[in-house]
Amino acid sequence: AVTRTFSIIKPDATRRNLTGAVTNMLEKAGLRVVASKRIHMTKEQAEGFYAVHKERPFFGELVDFMISGPVVVQVLEGEDAVARNRKIMGATNPADADQGTIRKELAESIEANTVHGSDSDENAAIEIAYFFDESEIVG
Ligand code: CMP
Repeated sequence: AVTRTFSIIKPDATRRNLTGAVTNMLEKAGLRVVASKRIHMTKEQAEGFYAVHKERPFFGELVDFMISGPVVVQVLEGEDAVARNRKIMGATNPADADQGTIRKELAESIEANTVHGSDSDENAAIEIAYFFDESEIVG
């Protein structure tokens, strides 16, 4: 089925002027950008977004990194969008990512790993709603 997922192009990618390169890889993988905006997250926004990770040892660093520069938040649509996006992103740690994936080709480290993508349809809906009104999504 055609579904939606949520993506963030992270500060390491905006800093290196790679938003087009990342988006091109998403599109080539069969995903369609149906909403997109460039934002600089506040600390509160980043902490809320990553609330599920708040007990992790890297939480503080993760939040600091995500507010270190602008990001591009996107809604992606496609056949099995969550799985399709996870496949093109590659493993969280670029050292473990397959050839041809965004993280293998572009990411700098496990923290500066270029993209975020939802891990389930349920979380995709929550994450999309965190950043977008339905009226901003144009299929
Ligand atoms: P993301 O998909 O955005 O969700 C949580 C993020 O935490 C993850 O991508 C990584 O960038 C980051 N992360 C995961 N594990 C570590 C780690 N061991 N050290 C630093 N950051 C991490």
